[in-house]
Amino acid sequence: MAIAQGRVPLIAGNWKMNFDHLQSIAFVQKLAWTLKDADHDFGVGGSEVAVFPPFTDLRSVQTLISADKLKLEYGAQDLSQHDSGAFTGEISGAFLALLACRFVLVGHSERRQYHGETDELLRAKVAASLKHGLVPVLCVGETAEDLEQHGPSAVPVAQLRAALAGLSGTPELVIAYEPVWAIGSGQAATPEQAEQVAATLRSVLLELLGSEVAEATRILYGGSVKSSNIAGFMREANIDGALVGGASLDVIEFASIARFQKHVGT
Ligand code: PGA
Repeated sequence: MAIAQGRVPLIAGNWKMNFDHLQSIAFVQKLAWTLKDADHDFGVGGSEVAVFPPFTDLRSVQTLISADKLKLEYGAQDLSQHDSGAFTGEISGAFLALLACRFVLVGHSERRQYHGETDELLRAKVAASLKHGLVPVLCVGETAEDLEQHGPSAVPVAQLRAALAGLSGTPELVIAYEPVWAIGSGQAATPEQAEQVAATLRSVLLELLGSEVAEATRILYGGSVKSSNIAGFMREANIDGALVGGASLDVIEFASIARFQKHVGT
């Protein structure tokens, strides 16, 4: 089990374009109460819990979390590769850092697909995240066609190599393996499929950045994760958490996913 390696599991909720700032405040409050009532352990024996609201909600979420000293983490769903300038509609990593975001999603498949984000752009976004002290949650994953043509690992590995090209040192990274065919489809990968790709991704991290980074980096699985299937993924050696879309919009369900250790044996 991944926890045996000492990595703190991370359960991350990608809210996509859902919840305005008032709804986000209500959700974060309720999530914090639910986890507190359940005596949730935010460390190695439990899970770190992070939410990724729309940009317009981040300031409200920051204010609530810091005022009430909640143990929840948060991040943005995207950032610009640029620091500032004439880039209408873009958000700088510097601005996200000022809102005390810990994380930022980079290269979610919806960004790759609907916004034409290329591997080269995502390499610049990973670099921009690290430059501003944000932990990039780099999303990689194959489509159903990729799976048929190249098998499960080829595309995620190529995306990982491209996004990390030229990187050195010991950066804090999170990798989210999200098979595109599993996102929002109700058809999750099997834990064995996900583990096979996660193990391959970890071996690429070892090759590119060395053992310290390969050991410390959390690799999440994403794609139709629910409270009823999370335990199976978390039993795998190379899966350290989940990136949750649809099920992160229901506070009871999301809290139950975060508390997977309570049902990991079932
Ligand atoms: P899903 O989305 O959990 O609704 O499949 C996952 C994601 O897009 O990150």
